[in-house]
Amino acid sequence: MRDIADLDVGGQAVLLRADLNVPLDGTTITDDGRIRASLPTITALASRGARVLICAHLGRPKGDDFAARAAGGPSLRPVASRLSELLGHEVPLASDVAGPSAAEVASGLRDGGVGLLENVRFEPAETSKDDTQRAGLARRLASLATLYVGDGFGALHRKHASVYDVPGLLPHAAGHLVQAEIAVLRRLTQHPERPYVVVLGGAKPSDKLAVISHLLDKADRIIIGGGMSYTFLAAQGYEVGRSLLEADQIATVKGVLEDAAARGVEIVLPADLVGATGFAADAEHEVYAVTEFPADRESLDMGPRTRELFASKLSDARTVFWNGPVGVFEFPAFAEGTRAVAEAISQVRGLTVVGGGDSAAAVRQLNFPDTAFGHISTGGGASLEYLEGKTLPGLAALEGNR
Ligand code: 3PG
Repeated sequence: MRDIADLDVGGQAVLLRADLNVPLDGTTITDDGRIRASLPTITALASRGARVLICAHLGRPKGDDFAARAAGGPSLRPVASRLSELLGHEVPLASDVAGPSAAEVASGLRDGGVGLLENVRFEPAETSKDDTQRAGLARRLASLATLYVGDGFGALHRKHASVYDVPGLLPHAAGHLVQAEIAVLRRLTQHPERPYVVVLGGAKPSDKLAVISHLLDKADRIIIGGGMSYTFLAAQGYEVGRSLLEADQIATVKGVLEDAAARGVEIVLPADLVGATGFAADAEHEVYAVTEFPADRESLDMGPRTRELFASKLSDARTVFWNGPVGVFEFPAFAEGTRAVAEAISQVRGLTVVGGGDSAAAVRQLNFPDTAFGHISTGGGASLEYLEGKTLPGLAALEGNR
């Protein structure tokens, strides 16, 4: 895979696909980690005299056409403002993706200048499963530049026009973020130092069962907490009350547990839970052993015995991959489980990787410095699919030799 150092970018218009999909509260960015993670490539290209035209998505806009999607939002305007602040100069935002406004922004850029296209998902063709539709948008995007740089690691698992099709039309290279993320994932998959412990949280086991099955060949221990652990507990016959449950996954989860036992991979599940009266920051709550969880309560966090258990199962690790918070960390009363996992991982001597937007946002919200971890990945879905052994379409496209 070519690096941006291999491209002669001076005086060239470079279409840079970045992942600027930041969490928003209205129009306020609540975690700008992905914007900051994109800066090294943006500044490297600009400092070499490239005219940098950034293409990115935000959210999952709905609607049949550009007009409907643009009316519903979200616009990349808050991202353009934050990027302008971080770069110290104004970043013009086109009002379309690959139309007249995009062409005007592109032609107005001087060498070393940076501009931003509007949310690429306002174009329905971006995410279309129809190759011809995607190809049409890809050609319009490619006509705005002479070179392409792929640096949107978090979107590499998407077979989308700006991620997958445009690199087939322009000479291309991978940016610093993609190179760094892939280097870390290779270390995890190739020769991880042992014990290799994986911590999985987040809402749904169905999203992660494939990666768990794949990791049974690689990891020594898998710790399962948070929303997805309730289906695992239910599969073992425990009452989980009104906690998140994917009842249709119970049979599959039982199969995964049997598989793990047969292969000698330890699966660590919660011993106690924080059961709340409802899903609210100020909900009344108590700690219950998993054997005594009441039918009318909803678990929002891991209990103190679980926190200790998880920390002890991380204490001898030499490699850790963590994806997904283990409680509703956004509510301070239910952040202790996630804090305990972050704290335990920060003490590990070895390679520690925090994967995914939610876990990255959690460690920042809980005031852990980025330096407490070996690597904070910007891509949850992308890193999980890589660990599952799947081909990431965007990575395959960047590896193609054009
Ligand atoms: C992410 O948030 O994981 C990436 O930006 C990809 O977004 P998506 O899941 O909406 O494709």
